[in-house]
Amino acid sequence: MIHNSPLERTIGPVGLTAMGVGAVVGAGIFITPGIIAASYAGPSVIISYVVAAAVCALAALCYSEFSSTIPLSGSAYTYVYMVFGELPAWVVGWALISEYLFAVSSVAVSWSAYFQNLLSSLSIDLPNFLTAATGTPGHEGFGINLVAGIITLLVGILLAGGLRESTRVNTVMVFVKVAVIILFVAVAAFHIKAKNYHPFTPYGFTGIFSGASLAFYAYIGFDAVSTASEEVKDPQKTMPIGIISSLLIASLLYSLVSFVLVGVVHYSRLNVGDPVAFVLQVIHQDWVAGIVSLGAIVGMTTVLLVMSYGGTRLLFAISRDGLLPKIFSKITVKSHVPLESTWIFAIITSILAMFIPLDIIAELVNIGTLFAFAMVSIGVIFLRRLPEINKLPNAYKVPLYPVVPILSFLLCIGLMVKLRAITWVVFSIWFVVGLIIYMIYGHRHSKLQKEL
Ligand code: ALA
Repeated sequence: MIHNSPLERTIGPVGLTAMGVGAVVGAGIFITPGIIAASYAGPSVIISYVVAAAVCALAALCYSEFSSTIPLSGSAYTYVYMVFGELPAWVVGWALISEYLFAVSSVAVSWSAYFQNLLSSLSIDLPNFLTAATGTPGHEGFGINLVAGIITLLVGILLAGGLRESTRVNTVMVFVKVAVIILFVAVAAFHIKAKNYHPFTPYGFTGIFSGASLAFYAYIGFDAVSTASEEVKDPQKTMPIGIISSLLIASLLYSLVSFVLVGVVHYSRLNVGDPVAFVLQVIHQDWVAGIVSLGAIVGMTTVLLVMSYGGTRLLFAISRDGLLPKIFSKITVKSHVPLESTWIFAIITSILAMFIPLDIIAELVNIGTLFAFAMVSIGVIFLRRLPEINKLPNAYKVPLYPVVPILSFLLCIGLMVKLRAITWVVFSIWFVVGLIIYMIYGHRHSKLQKEL
């Protein structure tokens, strides 16, 4: 498990935080807050976002301890490998593969929705069968989501070009995204009406917590930062800074946006796919709405970029240990990227995004992520017991140990239990397929098994 990495250390704290904000802030703020407010939490949508942030913050502290102590690529998979061994690591790795694949394809579908709106405003409409996958609510007959399929492939091309270029493009786009969100808040805040906040919690605590389990999606991605460990300068310091500050920035932006949304328009009117643009149109700021829609597209592009990056690095780490075919860990000499892995990931996400409706894909993102968060949280307790790890100087340590890891574990399991039965069924099938792959391939090719 200790490797000389062929990857290059090029990312500093600003680049890493930009990666975090890039991965996190996307469809979860440009699409879901309206639905959470209208259907679950009412004006207290802000509390749903804060609750979800608190759960993620606890998990983020645990991730920070791991990524600063074990600065290797592969995120939760690698950490679980170090403390629990190969089979649990494979199970977590397999769950994470689902997180990255489904997160990228779900955001690609949201990207496509915003992009198609933009085309429509220019009077360009795609033929109906190319606009959405078969089975998408409101879509009749056969269909594929062409735009979603194309954008994931374009992201693959950018990543294949090399990390230095991708992080530079990502950093610029993250600044655009944050600027656009601040523009929205600054313009819309002047139209807040106090009466829209009454009643503040129309659906009580149940609504707030159901809203929080949806809002959780909006924070997914900060863990992708930890997949960059082998490409970060001075990881002991940079990793905790990157993970924690990206989560802080995201929670601040989400709280502001959701507070303003329900303040300007009554929450019952917010059940729309593009609430941010919708609210701006209600207050007759159409030009700002246009800019914000463009910003949303840019914003979701960075999610695609960083989550795709995370997915390929995860495949790289698993393959390096022999649990997946070698093709996933081949690095090109020139650009220092795992090229084949990047292409395979882009092609699979493109197919998922084209053919599976959004509601089904989105079902699966949360459960795989929560499972990995739970394992990482409880893993901190076992990590501290490894004598060789404790000797590492300067590594970040979770505060209030062991309360934080245990609480984080319990909250993640609590949110998992709240997910719908259908999600559990699909996740169980995914889980069994993973076990079969391990038995047929991973177990026999594992480098550690061979060494033993
Ligand atoms: N957190 C990511 C988003 O909201 C998945 O787009």
